[in-house]
Amino acid sequence: MNALAATNRNFRHAARILGLDSKLEKSLLIPFREIKVECTIPKDDGSLVSYIGFRVQHDNARGPMKGGIRYHPEVEPDEVNALAQLMTWKTAVADIPYGGAKGGIGCNPRDLSQSELERLTRVFTQKIHDLIGTHTDVPAPDMGTNAQTMAWILDEYSKFHGHSPAVVTGKPIDLGGSLGREAATGRGVVFATEALLAEHGKSIKGMTFAIQGFGNVGAWAAKLIHERGGKVIAVSDITGAIRNMNGINIEELLKHKESTGSLKNFEGADKMDPNEVLVHECDVLIPCALGGVLNRDNAADVKAKFIIEAANHPTDPEADEILSKKGVVILPDIYANAGGVTVSYFEWVQNIQGFMWDEDKVNNELQRYMTRAFHNIKGMCQTHDCNLRMGAFTLAVNRVARATLLRGWEA
Ligand SMILES: NC(=O)c1ccc[n+]([C@@H]2O[C@H](COP(=O)([O-])OP(=O)(O)OC[C@H]3O[C@@H](n4cnc5c(N)ncnc54)[C@H](O)[C@@H]3O)[C@@H](O)[C@H]2O)c1
Repeated sequence: MNALAATNRNFRHAARILGLDSKLEKSLLIPFREIKVECTIPKDDGSLVSYIGFRVQHDNARGPMKGGIRYHPEVEPDEVNALAQLMTWKTAVADIPYGGAKGGIGCNPRDLSQSELERLTRVFTQKIHDLIGTHTDVPAPDMGTNAQTMAWILDEYSKFHGHSPAVVTGKPIDLGGSLGREAATGRGVVFATEALLAEHGKSIKGMTFAIQGFGNVGAWAAKLIHERGGKVIAVSDITGAIRNMNGINIEELLKHKESTGSLKNFEGADKMDPNEVLVHECDVLIPCALGGVLNRDNAADVKAKFIIEAANHPTDPEADEILSKKGVVILPDIYANAGGVTVSYFEWVQNIQGFMWDEDKVNNELQRYMTRAFHNIKGMCQTHDCNLRMGAFTLAVNRVARATLLRGWEA
C-alpha cells in the first residue's frame, strides 16, 4: 500500500472513531488548492529545458500551510497530495498553528549544475510567489533541496513582496534560520522516545537500540541516545551495517563516517547483514531511512519491544497488524518525526518577532512541544481505546475538524 492509500485509510478510520459528519470528512480530504506550473530555464549550454513544478496546499483551517519542496525525478501529483495531507495531520498533532502543504519539481537535482538549480528555483518561485507567503503557505527543504534552495526562494520572493524571511524555513542561519534546526528531527525523536519509555516506567539509559539510517535524523538520534546512556548496538546506512552488543561509541562512529564517508571498516564494531538490523535483538528499533521497510516479510521476526517511526511511513499496514498482535508498541511517524516541523515553526516565530532565540531555548521548547503532544495522544488512546497511531490521527483530525467547524465551513 502506498503512502497516499495508507494515509487515507488512517484518516478514514480516525473519522469513523470520531463520528465525523460525512460531508466534513469528504471536505477534509480534498486539498484546498493544487498548483501545477511549467518551469522553463536555459541550461548552462544555452539549450532550453522545461520541468513541471507542483504545490499542493491541503488545508489552512489552523493556520498557514506548511511543508517541504522536493526536487526528485519521481515527484508526481498523487504523492505530493498524500504528503501535503500528512503535513496537515502532523502540524495538528504537534499543535503548531499551521495547516499542511507539499511541493516539488520533477527533476533530478544531480543532473543540474548549481546555477541551473538556482535558475530553476527562481523560475518556480516566480510562478507561485502570489500563492505562497508568511501567512499563506511556508515552504521548507525536503528531498533534493536544502538551506541554499530556501535562500534563493527567499531572495526571489522578496523581490515581489519586500524582505520576507518568514516565507520559508530551513534557511541558512545568516538569513534568519534557527539554531537547533539541523538536529531538530533527531532530537524530537529522542524526546518522543523518552516520553514513551517514561510511560512504561523505563528510560533511555541502559536500553538497547537498533537504528536503520545514519543520515541527518539517524545520526542525531544515535548521538543523543548515546549521550543519555542508551546502548546503540546496531546501525546501518546505504554503505552497510555494524553491530556491537556492548554499545557502539557513536562519537567515534561519527568521526569515522566524517572521514571515510562510510560505516565500513569501523574498528569499534563488527560488520553485519544490513537486513538484520530491523530484526536484531534490541529494546527499541528506530527506522530512520526509507518508507515500507517493515512489511509482511519481516514483521514477524522483529524482536524490538518498541518501534519509533523516525522515517516517514516505515511500517506498512500489514506489518502494523502483525506487530500489534505481537504486542510491539509503535510510536507513529506523524508524531515521532514532528520535531523538524516544530523547530521550523520556531524559526518562523523568530523571523516574525525579528528576534533570535539561543539554542537552549529552541531545544527546551521542542521538548515541551514533543512531551505535550505525547500526552495529548495518550489521552485520545484512552478516550477511544485505540493504539498510538490512531491516537495521533484522531487527535489531529479532531483538531482540524474543530477549527474548520468554528470558522464555518458551509459558505
Ligand atoms: N530531515 C528531516 O528533518 C526529516 C523530517 C521528517 C521526516 N524525515 C524522514 O526521515 C528519514 C530520513 O531523513 P534524513 O533527513 O535523515 O535523510 P538523509 O538522506 O540525511 O539520511 C538517510 C539515511 O538513510 C540511509 N539509507 C538509504 N538507503 C538505505 C538502506 N537501504 N538501508 C539502510 N540505510 C539506508 C542513508 O545512507 C542515510 O544514512 C526519511 O524518511 C525522511 O522523510 C526527515
